[in-house]
Amino acid sequence: MDAIRIRGGKPLRGQVRVSGAKNAALPILCATLLSDGASLLRNVPALRDIDTTAALLRFLGRDCTVDAPEVRVAAGSDVRPEAPYELVKQMRASVLVLGPLLARFGRARVSLPGGCAIGARPIDQHLKGLEAMGASIQLQRGYVLAECARLHGAEICFDLPTVTGTENLMMAAALAKGRTTLVNAAREPEVEELGCVLNKMGAHIEGAGTDVIHIVGRDELEPFDHAILADRIEAGTFMVAIAATGGDALVEGAPLEHLEPVVVKLRRAGIIVEREGSAVRIAAPKRARATDITTAPHPGFPTDMQAQFMVLMCTGEGESVITETIFENRFMHVPELARMGADIEVRGNTAIVKGVRGLSGASVMATDLRASASLVIAGLVASEGETEVRRVYHLDRGYEHIERKLAGLGGDVERVQAGG
Ligand code: EPZ
Repeated sequence: MDAIRIRGGKPLRGQVRVSGAKNAALPILCATLLSDGASLLRNVPALRDIDTTAALLRFLGRDCTVDAPEVRVAAGSDVRPEAPYELVKQMRASVLVLGPLLARFGRARVSLPGGCAIGARPIDQHLKGLEAMGASIQLQRGYVLAECARLHGAEICFDLPTVTGTENLMMAAALAKGRTTLVNAAREPEVEELGCVLNKMGAHIEGAGTDVIHIVGRDELEPFDHAILADRIEAGTFMVAIAATGGDALVEGAPLEHLEPVVVKLRRAGIIVEREGSAVRIAAPKRARATDITTAPHPGFPTDMQAQFMVLMCTGEGESVITETIFENRFMHVPELARMGADIEVRGNTAIVKGVRGLSGASVMATDLRASASLVIAGLVASEGETEVRRVYHLDRGYEHIERKLAGLGGDVERVQAGG
């Protein structure tokens, strides 16, 4: 089992390049099920989640070639509209094949994703939307069985904004008969990016990226050639790592326009954030100022940046309050950070962080993708001792060559073999 070994205490300097957005690539790869012919997706990061999605598409009968940063998908000989538990349990986003399979082939048998470390992760909004479009939905022995000869348009109002729920229903509506309106839709940039690709395929979608999306269904869609946008969460992670180590470095290709809430909070904490050509310069004082954050759906502060920002606050000056409103169990990095000397008290969905002078290295366990990123940042901050982050397969799901990228910024970071 791989681990990442870090000797911290050095300010990060130099330059790092942002890869393509994982959470845009996943739905767009699933959208290839909506058409025949060969599609090409460019600027795709080399990640475990991309490999898992490719394996799922192959299982469904597609020819899928991953040659990062390019992924090619073509129609195979036949299709098997079934996503098995063995694949779905590795990556919840596999549920994104449900809408396309149902819309294109009239039926789908997809394993319920089940919960994960950060929460129960239900998909009731996905299923209610598909039922509103005419699908018959049954839950049987851990699987969703969905059937509908041809979906029809509907007016759907989400009870709460859901990113993959919005994406699943956009893809289903793109081949449904008639017009669909999605109200209280998720506004994340990755949703907007999917809308852009579906329109390249011949769909009629307006409003993707806003909270009301209009879709006029087509009888068939075409393959696409598309280069995906930069990963705002990877960029934000590096920005926080540079800030937390008191560094001064450039993040090349950072999509600042998609990071406004993070930039506001970093500046509030006394961090210099300024555009330099196609890069963003991050420069930090020795200690950040305590700054409160509350996570919210886009354009609020992203829940996927909560764990990383917490590390910046761990050695900040003063007390900060971090409130997590999206997932019910997204503080699993807290006990691991406490083992490194952080002073954090959790009360329900709120963490009160009292800034300490410094952190010390320790062996820590990753539990989910963004928690593992926060532990790596804590290792880079720790001025005493060495940190070993175990179970880094969580990290490999969403960060491309992270040890190489951090070493490129002068971080003393290496991948090692470690016990379980
Ligand atoms: C997407 O997950 C992202 N994943 C997550 O990123 C991200 O944390 C999350 O959006 C929130 O921004 C992908 O895009 C592949 P939601 P998703 O549906 O779509 C509740 C990462 O680190 N909900 O927007 O699964 C749900 O429980 C990952 O890259 C329902 O109640 O999240 C949660 O509380 C982690 N019923 C809230 O909505 C539903 O049917 C938001 O979840 C669907 C969701």
